This record gives sequence, C-alpha cells and structure tokens, in this order.
Amino acid sequence: MQQTFETALEEAWTAAWDRGEVEALASICTDSYSRTGKSDGNSMTLAQFQDEIRATRAGFPDLTTKINSVIVNGDRAAIFWTTSGTHTETFLGVPATGKSVVTRGSNEVALHDGLIQSENVTWDGSELLNSLGIRSLSDAIAAEKASDEPVLMADLSGEPDLDAMKAFNRQFVTGVTVVTTQENGKPKGLAVNAYSSISLEPPLVMVCVQKTSSTYPALFASTHLGINILSREQKDTVSTFASKSADKFADIVWHEGPDGSPLIDSSSAMIEAEIRERFQAKTHTIFVCRVRHAEVSNIEPMVYKAGRFYDGANLESL
Ligand SMILES: Cc1cc2nc3c(=O)[nH]c(=O)nc-3n(C[C@H](O)[C@H](O)[C@H](O)COP(=O)(O)O)c2cc1C
Repeated sequence: MQQTFETALEEAWTAAWDRGEVEALASICTDSYSRTGKSDGNSMTLAQFQDEIRATRAGFPDLTTKINSVIVNGDRAAIFWTTSGTHTETFLGVPATGKSVVTRGSNEVALHDGLIQSENVTWDGSELLNSLGIRSLSDAIAAEKASDEPVLMADLSGEPDLDAMKAFNRQFVTGVTVVTTQENGKPKGLAVNAYSSISLEPPLVMVCVQKTSSTYPALFASTHLGINILSREQKDTVSTFASKSADKFADIVWHEGPDGSPLIDSSSAMIEAEIRERFQAKTHTIFVCRVRHAEVSNIEPMVYKAGRFYDGANLESL
C-alpha cells in the first residue's frame, strides 16, 4: 500500500504542480478532501486547492515542486517538499519582480483507503511572497501577535458599513500629495492623501496606493519614489494627478531628485525616499520608505476635507 501511495502521489503531484494538470489530484484525494493552511488556519476544498495551484502557476509559470521524502505510518503520512520558480507574472496582486525563489514545506496527511482525506500544510501562497521579501499585512500582524508586541489592527468583528466608513473618512482633514516615479525615463504619478510620517529617527514615511492605479506597477518596481505635498497654488495639479491622463506631466514643471524621482516645482514640500517595504493590504499596497532627500518651500499647503480643497494660508486657529 505504501509504495502504491507514494508512486500515485508523485505522479499526481508532478502533473498538478509542474504541468498544471490539476485534475490529476482527484486520483489521490477522497471526495471530501480538505486542506488546512497552518499559517492562517483556513480550510479549502479540492476545487479551491486546484484554483490555488492554477493561480500560483500563473504567477510562477516555470514552477516545479519536488517531493523530498514521504513517510507513511498506517493511515497517516508526512510529505516533505521543495518548490522553486520565477516570479514573472502578477501573483496575489503583486506585479512580476523577476526574482527566483525556493521554498520548502511539509504536509501532515490523514489517509482513508489509501487516499488523502485531509492535510495540514505549513504553507500558503503568501509564503512565496515572503520568499520574495514582500510581506502581507496579515503576516505582519501575526508576527506582532506572536512577539507580544502591540497589535497593528484591532479585531474587525461587528465592522461598520460602507456609509459609516465614508462618513468617518470625511471627518478627517489631510493635505494632498502627488506620489511619483519614472518608468523607462517617463515621469508617472498619482494624487494620494493616504500619506503619513512614521518616524523622524529613522526618517520613515508611508503612502498607500490602490493596485488598480496605472502608476502602481511602475511604483512597485521602483527603488525610490517622490512625494510632493501640494500647495494652495496647485488646484489644477490635483485634477491632473487624480485623472487617468496618459501624460500627466505635459504641463508640469518638475525636476529630478538625486535618485531620479520627479519633484514638482511650486509644491509646498517635496521628498525623495527609498522604498523599504511593500506591505500587501488586499486592494492596496502600503509603501514604507526611508527619506533620502527633502526640499521645503515657503508656499502654503493645500488642505483636503470631505472631497473639497481649501487654502492652507487661511486656517483659523482654535
Ligand atoms: C484628494 C485625493 C486623494 C487620493 N488619495 C489616494 C490614495 O491615497 N491612494 C490611491 O491609490 N489613490 C488616491 N486617489 C485616487 C487616485 O489619485 C486616482 O485614482 C488616479 O486616477 C490614479 O491615477 P493612475 O491610475 O493614472 O495612477 C486620490 C484622489 C484624490 C483626488
């Protein structure tokens, strides 16, 4: 029985992971197969697992998975494996990095009549991103919880509805920035108010960018980015950079920071920063950056509240 299981496993595994023939897995799993990821505790059916393999292979088309060893003991088994591949296509919303990764894991298997009934796996798709040096926000939260450090985010049970969230956000007053980079010598950028200073020592800042933004792939691939705090004189500039216009810089006067990021003249302040982390937060990526260069002008900033723009020179103090 042991030899039969190992041979069937090897054949189905190679077909599914190395060639994308995911249907082959049905020959080694029971109808009620379930797979639980140890990192997130979520369970999936065979069909969902097959979708996960397809999605993984779409991001890493040259993926190969080798079974290093299988230990069978009655109706239990352990499978130890190594996967390698190159990240040449978008995976879990992360544009191709071109990097090669090797990741190892193990499955703890419960067998029924020689077929896999259920398995606990030390791995999920986010492991591949971890191997590329890209952490998901949930991994960061899990790591903080494990280290007894303060948790980044509270439990969201009983979460507010969309209107309540919008109403909440409308009460928050911010400035407006334009986040920039260059792609093949062409300046690119978008309006962003999800900017925050993180710390002064070291000088860290963060911006949060939607993955559907046309600027996003260029930003993701960049080593540096520019953050321009818009001034009261740049109302037209906001409209330009909140649009999808193909050449947003056509009427913009700008210069390069030391590492090439576009810095927009007439802004209130500009920094160029080195991208240090790219946290995956579902639909958005949080870029955590170390500031390398700063320019501050004496032009007052623009103020943004509830969809409207105000003159930062005309604020009344309380
Ligand atoms: C005031 C304001 C703030 C914005 N803040 C953000 C933000 O924080 N993150 C983001 O991804 N988009 C933000 N946007 C939306 C983008 O600027 C907008 O979707 C833009 O069209 C994206 O351009 P792109 O797809 O060419 O990159 C904001 C827009 C405005 C007007």
